[in-house]
Amino acid sequence: MNILVLGSGGREHALVWRLAADPDVTGLIAAPGNPGMAALARCVPVDLTDPQAVLDLARRERVDLTVVGPEAPLALGLGAVFRQAGAAILGPGPLGAALESSKVQAKHFMAQYGIPTARFAVCDELDAALAEVARHDFASPLVIKADGLAGGKGVVIAEDRASAEAAVRAAMVDRTFGEAGARLVIEECLSGPEVSAFYLCDGYRAVPLSTAQDHKRIFDADRGPNTGGMGAFSPSPLATPDMLAFVRSRIVEPVLRGMREAGEPYVGFLYVSLMLTDDGPKVIEFNVRFGDPEAQVVLPRLEGRFAQALRAAAEGRLAGVSLQESADRCVGVVVASRGYPASSESGRPIEGLDAAAAEGTLVFHAGTAADNGRIVTAGGRVLTIVGRAASFEAAMQTAYRGVDRVRFDGMQFRRDIGQKAIAAESGAEIR
Ligand code: AMP
Ligand code: GLY
Repeated sequence: MNILVLGSGGREHALVWRLAADPDVTGLIAAPGNPGMAALARCVPVDLTDPQAVLDLARRERVDLTVVGPEAPLALGLGAVFRQAGAAILGPGPLGAALESSKVQAKHFMAQYGIPTARFAVCDELDAALAEVARHDFASPLVIKADGLAGGKGVVIAEDRASAEAAVRAAMVDRTFGEAGARLVIEECLSGPEVSAFYLCDGYRAVPLSTAQDHKRIFDADRGPNTGGMGAFSPSPLATPDMLAFVRSRIVEPVLRGMREAGEPYVGFLYVSLMLTDDGPKVIEFNVRFGDPEAQVVLPRLEGRFAQALRAAAEGRLAGVSLQESADRCVGVVVASRGYPASSESGRPIEGLDAAAAEGTLVFHAGTAADNGRIVTAGGRVLTIVGRAASFEAAMQTAYRGVDRVRFDGMQFRRDIGQKAIAAESGAEIR
């Protein structure tokens, strides 16, 4: 099987790494890829914002399956362009993509299908949004979300009226998030631990791909601003069989049914971001792709014929397919550049990549570039370093032994990725 993986981050490096080890894969192309992927796949430049150019590449390279890493090409209609041309693609069409690219559409969809989520209002005028803020008593915070894609930064949890009003004005008047802020979702604040569950969908069926917990804040103990994710572990000790049965029947099956009723069966990865509240699991958001850094900790635990399963999903043939999880635990630590998430530096030489791998870690590249035979930084999140072991303690130790071998000017990372898993397994109360 000849597979094209689209994207250039740590998630895509993990997909390429997993596929490179698959006996059914005979050819592997990454577009545009990164220096980490270049060791495993042929990297080909492509403009991911141009669906026709991506289709032309898939045709020219005679690929059997295209696997989409990031959400943006899907929101631009890549899934429909491929399917109209009869080319196999793992990723939804525009209606499915809107479950992630429009929080408004996602909330309306959840309301229509009775999917548990935070109570919400949609506001497309400043006055309506301010009236919504005025109605709230601030006994609990109010959550204000820009409708469109905002790179994980379009959410404000406002503790008081003044900051809620400021958030509304920033989004709607100052357009801090650009057009994404033209409409807002204003919703109740939920509390509880956050868990992500991943599924592979063929339009009719969903094969579970395990669970993970991300660490969105930049600093230890979940302090500081939100990022794209500073580390993750898999599986989540909080994901019990009962909880997963609930997620399947109340969330995943309704998504599949709803998308079929809308005329666009949902094909691709489905990433369900959940908050485990006292009233049960509720959806924080859907993503229509794998998570980053979650893919880096989930994929090393997935056994079986992954490439065949991906192709079966793209072709509506998942009946009878399952992928087993290994008993391993994975802990992945993101190493980021100075200034991330507000800004980031580039061009700093990275030392110790081989030494980190020699500690038994998996080293996934995200923001790296090749520069005269050296690997240098090229963006906010630079690497994900993953430890895989029989226990979370051992996986965490391995991951950090690897991190401690890497050096570049301005590197920053969290020291506590994996601790929540260890605490949960020991039965401690966490949140
Ligand atoms: P999102 O971009 O929707 O995933 O939101 C980013 C982060 O904001 C989530 O990971 C949560 O930590 C937090 N968040 C979003 N919605 C809510 C909510 N309704 N209640 C509490 N926290 C939320
Ligand atoms: N780590 C969060 C995401 O991939 O959206």
